[in-house]
Amino acid sequence: MVRVGVDEKLSEELLVDFPQGAEIVRIPRKGTGMVDVDFWILPFARKSAQETFSHLRGVRVVQSMMAGVDWIAPWLPKDVVLCDGRGIHDISASEWVVGAILASLKRFPLYRDMQLRQEWKGQAAERGGFLGETGAQVGLYKVLGEDLAGKTVLIVGYGSIGAAIEARLAPFGVRILRVARSARTEPVVSAVGELRRLLPEADVVVAVVPLTEETRGLIGAEEIGLMKRGALLVNAARGQVVATDALVEALEQHRIRAALDVTDPEPLPAGHPLWLAPNCMITPHVGGSTPEFIHRAFRFGAAQVRRYLAGEPLENVVLDAGY
Ligand SMILES: NC(=O)c1ccc[n+]([C@@H]2O[C@H](COP(=O)([O-])OP(=O)(O)OC[C@H]3O[C@@H](n4cnc5c(N)ncnc54)[C@H](OP(=O)(O)O)[C@@H]3O)[C@@H](O)[C@H]2O)c1
Repeated sequence: MVRVGVDEKLSEELLVDFPQGAEIVRIPRKGTGMVDVDFWILPFARKSAQETFSHLRGVRVVQSMMAGVDWIAPWLPKDVVLCDGRGIHDISASEWVVGAILASLKRFPLYRDMQLRQEWKGQAAERGGFLGETGAQVGLYKVLGEDLAGKTVLIVGYGSIGAAIEARLAPFGVRILRVARSARTEPVVSAVGELRRLLPEADVVVAVVPLTEETRGLIGAEEIGLMKRGALLVNAARGQVVATDALVEALEQHRIRAALDVTDPEPLPAGHPLWLAPNCMITPHVGGSTPEFIHRAFRFGAAQVRRYLAGEPLENVVLDAGY
């Protein structure tokens, strides 16, 4: 028998796949007493997670349903196994990235703004370049939308989601460049030390690395400066992976464009310069969250509990204390 701790309000339908040997323990959101739990499935609400953990006794495994565990690892005791949600976001996050790339290249945010003003302006009425270029650059971006075909897409953080992005981009006829911590072949992945060499080649740069001490500010002023004029920076990782000040400056100078699901800070406060920066599309950290994802997540959680009961190795272990 294993006591599996879940949020008190978790829907019954998400628990149907849990094995017989799992005793489901519903953890009160506002409880003050201690609750005995062996295997804790973290709630999605991040703010209360640490507080909830302080009311749990006997926890041996913590299963996060998020790919990034940067917000859990610092406060979790070292004798607890931590598993992340690697893989369960692949579909939702990669679909968001492909959608954001297409929306930006096809200029959907611009047309939505025009729709809200009830303005019909086709190519003939379009004045000035998309990027507001002057001088010799005038006309370069004087287009209604661009094709993705033929573009070069650099995936910075070629892991589970990165590979899913590539699989979904394949039919568009793009060239893919890949960067991870360490280099490998088949497919060719370059080490992060090659990032600066690769940046000037890319039309689209997708950040999908975890937030760590090494990746904080990975896309800084220098990296943004190396991007092609007019290139699109897509951040589906964490806001702090990109230096916000440098990004705002590059956007305001019409040097690059951006599609962001994550920002630094989050939530982005009213009045922050990113909100109105030109050629910048923002969604409020929703890329990984879909109804289908939640079902996928709990099927994975149930499979982890089954492995635990069978004494099999758990998947997605990021902090291994043994159990
Ligand atoms: N926007 C959203 O809603 C959303 C949803 C899901 C995930 N995410 C973010 O996406 C991240 C990636 O998820 P994933 O499931 O694809 O993780 P993953 O499978 O662990 O892949 C992470 C990749 O990042 C690379 N990496 C790590 N540190 C690096 C560094 N210092 N420099 C360059 N590359 C580095 C890894 O390289 P190696 O393979 O060489 O180790 C790996 O290829 C998550 O951590 C999370 O922050 C966001």
